[in-house]
Amino acid sequence: MKPRVLLTHPLLPEVMDCLEKEVELELATSEALLPREELLARISDKQGLLCFLTDQIDREVIDRAPELKIIANCAVGVNNIDLKYARSRGILVTNTPDVLTEATADLTLALILATARRLVEADRFCRQGKFLGWQIDLFLGQELTGRVLGIIGFGRIGRAVARRARAFNLKIIYHDPQRADILLERELGAEFCSLEELFQRADIISIHAPLTPQTHHLISRKEFSMMKNTAILINTARGPILDEKALVEALKNGKIQAAGLDVYENEPSIEPELLSMDNVVLLPHIGSATFETRRKMCLAAVKNLLQGLRGERPENLVEV
Ligand code: GLV
Repeated sequence: MKPRVLLTHPLLPEVMDCLEKEVELELATSEALLPREELLARISDKQGLLCFLTDQIDREVIDRAPELKIIANCAVGVNNIDLKYARSRGILVTNTPDVLTEATADLTLALILATARRLVEADRFCRQGKFLGWQIDLFLGQELTGRVLGIIGFGRIGRAVARRARAFNLKIIYHDPQRADILLERELGAEFCSLEELFQRADIISIHAPLTPQTHHLISRKEFSMMKNTAILINTARGPILDEKALVEALKNGKIQAAGLDVYENEPSIEPELLSMDNVVLLPHIGSATFETRRKMCLAAVKNLLQGLRGERPENLVEV
């Protein structure tokens, strides 16, 4: 008999076929968000769960699934899953690292350029018919050459951002609980420093850390007060790492100059004041959204799921 699997949202069509062949599949919804009641009801007889970062897989969900063997998250971040509780119940948890590193780093650079050179604001200006001719002071922005990029979290994505930043002649400083190998630091021209120093020295600050209890509100009022008033803040990691209300205040009071956000504290809601600020670029959590990467993420999630269901060690097992 094929194992019973709950898929919370459809995968890309070409990957659906391959999953349907191997398991008895129940697809929960094609809407962006799966109502919690439905998740709780549908998980009860399943051995496998393939889910996304928008699904909260907590104790209550896990308790409803006595036969569950594996939770395969189609994302690199696993903050939506109670890892410790899953582990205590002998349930494997997997994610999709590596395949989304380059796409997310690309988007980070896009946000850096968009905020530093005011691209979205300038685009709106053209569409509103306001471009009446070249002007010496039209949309002046910040030049990247020679500026300091502070990377918080120097894992796969942080390093991929550093590689790209070198091409723009940015000076790279970083902070991570674990300092990188000296050879890698040399290769990337990256200098390790404390968080405090990073906040003080960086012209552009980019977050690439996982969301954990330690990184929740890692940047709040106090941290904004340490930054340069010309600083640009970029977040393509997880919303709650930034205190969004403190960010609004910092932008309003000129404590920093601009922000580029792909993630939000209470996704999908966005602090209303951010919506009306010209110095903020807002994206709908699309860091990994390229055809290639999303396909690879789907394939990796399916592979992990099937390995777990067969009793094998999945390739991307998340260690607790
Ligand atoms: C996206 O945010 C991911 O964690 O994959």
